[in-house]
Amino acid sequence: MQQLPNAVRRLRMNFVLSGTQIMDAAEDFRQAMVAGLNNEKSSLKMLRSYLPKPTGDEKGVYLAVDFGGTNVRVLKVELSGHGKCEILRQRSFPLVGKDYDYTSDQVDGKALFEFIAEQIKVMLPASSSYPLGFTFSYPSQQASINKAILINWTKEIKTAGIVGCDVVEIFGAALQCKNIECLPPRAVINDTVGTLLTSAYIDSDTSMGSICGTGHNTCYVESQEKYLSHGGKFNNCKPIGCGQEIINLEAGNFDRLPDTVYDHELDGDSDLPGHQRLEKMVSGQYIGEIMRLVVKDFVNNGLIFKDCRPEIFYTPYKIKAEDISVLIADESQGLEEVEAWLGSHCGVFDTLIEDRITMRTIASIIVTRSAQLIAATYYGILRHIDPQLKKNHTIAIDGSVYERVPGYAHKLKITLNNLLQDEASTVKIRLTKEGSGVGAAIAAALVQHQALPVYTK
Ligand code: BGC
Repeated sequence: MQQLPNAVRRLRMNFVLSGTQIMDAAEDFRQAMVAGLNNEKSSLKMLRSYLPKPTGDEKGVYLAVDFGGTNVRVLKVELSGHGKCEILRQRSFPLVGKDYDYTSDQVDGKALFEFIAEQIKVMLPASSSYPLGFTFSYPSQQASINKAILINWTKEIKTAGIVGCDVVEIFGAALQCKNIECLPPRAVINDTVGTLLTSAYIDSDTSMGSICGTGHNTCYVESQEKYLSHGGKFNNCKPIGCGQEIINLEAGNFDRLPDTVYDHELDGDSDLPGHQRLEKMVSGQYIGEIMRLVVKDFVNNGLIFKDCRPEIFYTPYKIKAEDISVLIADESQGLEEVEAWLGSHCGVFDTLIEDRITMRTIASIIVTRSAQLIAATYYGILRHIDPQLKKNHTIAIDGSVYERVPGYAHKLKITLNNLLQDEASTVKIRLTKEGSGVGAAIAAALVQHQALPVYTK
């Protein structure tokens, strides 16, 4: 009789972090940042962006291309200065359709970028030319503002022939091939950098940009002065702008984490085992799959849905982050929405209330851990940037998990406040929508306004 409550208790203990565990994760994260900056062994890549923060006075009309995951967006953005910007036009198109899939290993980079170039052409009237900013949301080693070598794909994308190549060059060649005049991209940025730039355009306290969506990652503003004297990443580098540079942590790759058997199983079966360990515990691409593995275990042990083995729990990646949101959103006494979801998605009807409660509890436990872990990393970053927390800090966040999973933003803020204690009032979180699109326009404007050096062949 006690089997199910005991199993749920064990699950909670294994997933939900104690105050000490959260604090330890934050400190481990901070140490990994320092190691990464000093070119020592670290799971944090600490990638340079070659960009400072904007002043808010950058102006002009720009074209932005946002390559996030399974969709690409093209935006025409007007920056008017004084922190004002407007999206004049935009168009979004999927990379996976009924009869094509540009994210598969059967397709190469040339075909992918020529497809994107064709879509841009549809949106641009003939002979219009705008400076182009490009958001590419994958770990890339930048050698300048407009040169980005893809280190590895994440979020289970597999397009062939791009890893190790400069994505700006491939994209530029595709634009040229389609006779598009805005070529080549003037700046390439990560989506976290775009989010930071967009928030900093209106709020100069912004010191971090983060995505909690399909993928997870964070960037922050580093003082070059601090590291020029110590060597490491900035060895032999001229300072950018006002001596500050945005650094892309590739936080999703952080790996000193209190993980569970389910995390090991998910990682082992993923495209790149051992990579993106934090991302695989927190992000929208994976939280549904963690849920599936837990529920499968419960079903196998005869703890729930006693007379059946619903197919969905035996099919990888069948449960999505959206499903988790549906389960958590149901606050009715009889959990009618959970019951409806079980019927429509799993083919299980007339379920016991215990089973419904268990499904909702599992979803909530997974989401709680995600928010706790991300809050811990933010705290680690804050302590690195400003150990005494003497200044105000805005953390710019975007992404479907942060925005749409019920209660997620609240859980994250509460965890961060608990870590910050008396200093909680110095840290603000700003939901920064459109950051990965608008940010690319701001980056292109920065190149022009601050005469930042670009790479030319
Ligand atoms: C990528 C990051 C990106 C994040 C959010 C991760 O999978 O490695 O570069 O910022 O997803 O899109």
